[in-house]
Amino acid sequence: MNIAVAGETFSITVEPASNIDLSLPVAESEEGSTTPAQPEEEIPRGTTPYLETLATIHRVLEPAMYLEIGVWQGNSLAQAHCPAIGIDPLPDIKATLAPEVQLFSMTSDQFFSERAHQVLSGPVDMAFIDGMHLLEFVLRDFMYVERHAGPGSLIVLDDAFPAHPAQAARKRRTGTWMGDVWKLYPVLSQVRPDLFLLPINTWPAGLLLVAGLDPTNGTLWHTYNQIVRHLSINLDPPQEVLDRVGVYPPTVIEPFLHVLKSLRHAAAPPAQAVTELRAIASRL
Ligand SMILES: C[S@@+](CC[C@H](N)C(=O)[O-])C[C@H]1O[C@@H](n2cnc3c(N)ncnc32)[C@H](O)[C@@H]1O
Repeated sequence: MNIAVAGETFSITVEPASNIDLSLPVAESEEGSTTPAQPEEEIPRGTTPYLETLATIHRVLEPAMYLEIGVWQGNSLAQAHCPAIGIDPLPDIKATLAPEVQLFSMTSDQFFSERAHQVLSGPVDMAFIDGMHLLEFVLRDFMYVERHAGPGSLIVLDDAFPAHPAQAARKRRTGTWMGDVWKLYPVLSQVRPDLFLLPINTWPAGLLLVAGLDPTNGTLWHTYNQIVRHLSINLDPPQEVLDRVGVYPPTVIEPFLHVLKSLRHAAAPPAQAVTELRAIASRL
């Protein structure tokens, strides 16, 4: 299959082995600049705060199990009022968390290799991925969480829309930093066309909502090494990514969430969710 991301084109094949190589990328191909950030490099986009949109998702979806990667001070985890798992190697909790929240002070790689099988007995209805802002980390986080998804599950990815190329550098030098998480949208669109993707225009970093998740789909596991080898380089995000072209306002999301909630207990195949969600999207 041919993949194109910001002018970088390459072909990948579905490999027989699904062993993902955690040592990739072997070396950063380009050093980031050490020049201090200019004021215009720090300006984010969007007006609706992402925490407001997360609160809406919790209110409508009412997840029975919520999982968050990248907790920091707990502001996003505090939106959960249900049994929840937070994963962060360096949490610095300042917010008040619900009593059902379990915190795991470790990386997401450690959590999913050592603890997930003990603590995740049922599906994760909603996940928020906001850990390390590098493509290979968010791609793995997505792959890990999808293995625990049910028919009505939703994955919310933060940092999908940098507003300036400096914010998208793989080596951080700006305060407002989304890294190269933006690449996941074109990667998922091309490698997993079976998924439903909804980009949302929140402040400061934009969100990507992903549904139609299929825990049995191994395509990313069989192509991960090739994707990371090709794309873990500094690439300027295309202008339409910076301008958030085709990105929806947060006001559109509720009908999608109602569909997902209705599918939670149905033995529905992922394709059914995708068909219903695309029908709503076609009317936007
Ligand atoms: C942007 S902050 C999270 C903010 C939080 N989600 C919120 O909205 O309030 C990113 C967090 O990811 C954590 N992090 C970094 N690498 C990680 C990894 N490999 N696994 C899980 N968390 C990681 C950092 O320690 C940091 O606290």
